[in-house]
Amino acid sequence: MDKFIIEGQTPLKGKIAISGSKNAALPLMAASLLADGDVQLNNIPLLQDIYTFINVIKETGCQVTFFEDKRSLVFNASSVNKLEAPYDLVRKMRASFYMLGALVGRFGYAKVSLPGGCAWGPRPVNLHVEALKALGIEITMDKGYVIAKAPKTGIPGGEFTFNPRSVGATVNAVLAAVLANGKTVLHNVAQEPDVVQLCTALVKMGASIEGIGNSTLVINGVTALKGTSLDNAPDRIETGTYMLAAIMHPESEITITHSDPDDLGHFIEQFKQTGATISVSGTDIYVKAPKKINPVSIITDVYPGFPTDLQAQWATAMTLADGKSVITDTIYTDRFSYVPELNRLGASLEIAQNSVHVLGNSQLSGASIMSTDLRASVSLVLAAMVAEGNSEVLRIYHLDRGYEFLEKKLNTIGAKIKRVKE
Ligand code: UD1
Repeated sequence: MDKFIIEGQTPLKGKIAISGSKNAALPLMAASLLADGDVQLNNIPLLQDIYTFINVIKETGCQVTFFEDKRSLVFNASSVNKLEAPYDLVRKMRASFYMLGALVGRFGYAKVSLPGGCAWGPRPVNLHVEALKALGIEITMDKGYVIAKAPKTGIPGGEFTFNPRSVGATVNAVLAAVLANGKTVLHNVAQEPDVVQLCTALVKMGASIEGIGNSTLVINGVTALKGTSLDNAPDRIETGTYMLAAIMHPESEITITHSDPDDLGHFIEQFKQTGATISVSGTDIYVKAPKKINPVSIITDVYPGFPTDLQAQWATAMTLADGKSVITDTIYTDRFSYVPELNRLGASLEIAQNSVHVLGNSQLSGASIMSTDLRASVSLVLAAMVAEGNSEVLRIYHLDRGYEFLEKKLNTIGAKIKRVKE
């Protein structure tokens, strides 16, 4: 297992490029199973979760070639012969559950393992299952597996309302609906850029989807989808993470390149309230740290609201702010495993139900820290980069799941992070 040794108090200066989005790539990869010809996906990051999903898809017999140097992935689903996603693979990454909608949508049958637990509390899949049932798909459970079967005459389509809005369940329902016999109407769908990108890609492949980007999608099933070439979006969570890294040292001044600022929703407005200087020009975001960070409370929400995937990093920046702030997560209400670790570095955070109260004005000093999920882990790296002395961040395999070349990129702009074997 690898760990990071991080020398703290290093200002960040220079340019840092954003990689392709992990969470936007995964639905596109599942959608590739729906096409008759080759699907080429560009701007795919070299991340553990991508490799895991490649293995899940290969398990079906689908041909997958990853041209890693070009960051492009090519799929051909004509050789699919096994309509199953086994527990061994699905347990490594919950998004493997997208195989349910993709396989039943294209081949009329899917046997997919239930994903199991998660480091930040219960993450149900009831909406995925209910939505597929509403489309006329028969669902049964067998020894930890969900089995989805379309009627012999094909998937009829139907109407479903998501409550709450769910990115994953929307993706699964869309994947299952585009090749149905009839019409599907989905209400209160997720409007995250990842869902918009999926729907736009499917339309390019020949699907009929109206209302893309709105809360209701109307999908008229088509008989076949064709192969195409698709460009994956930049990672908005990686972008937000580096923006926050840049305000945590008063001498930091960076330009984030290859990003899509529009995908950040209301985050940019909230970020401005910290007192940072920010200017956006095309795909570049320039950020200069304020002398002292203003305390800014946030409440996570569905897109375009504040993303839950940036909540831990925001709380971390707020440990240095000039006063108190409150961070509330309404999406995942106990996603706070980073709190005791930041307190070990000298911060003062307290959990109260689904909120974290951050005292601010902390002097962080280096220690050994570790966390149990991706976004919590990166927030510990941000804290260690400004703490006095050296820190050790353990179990960094979480970071390799979701941040492409994290330490290489940050070291290029002035961080001092060393990867060593534990
Ligand atoms: C995706 C992202 C994850 C992000 C989350 C919220 C991927 C691979 N992961 O996860 O990084 O934090 O969106 O933006 O893209 N819910 C139910 N029943 C369900 C499904 C969800 O009640 O069947 C609830 C969840 O408990 C949660 C809310 O819906 O409270 C939103 O979750 P959802 O949007 O489904 O998250 P994921 O798609 O799993």
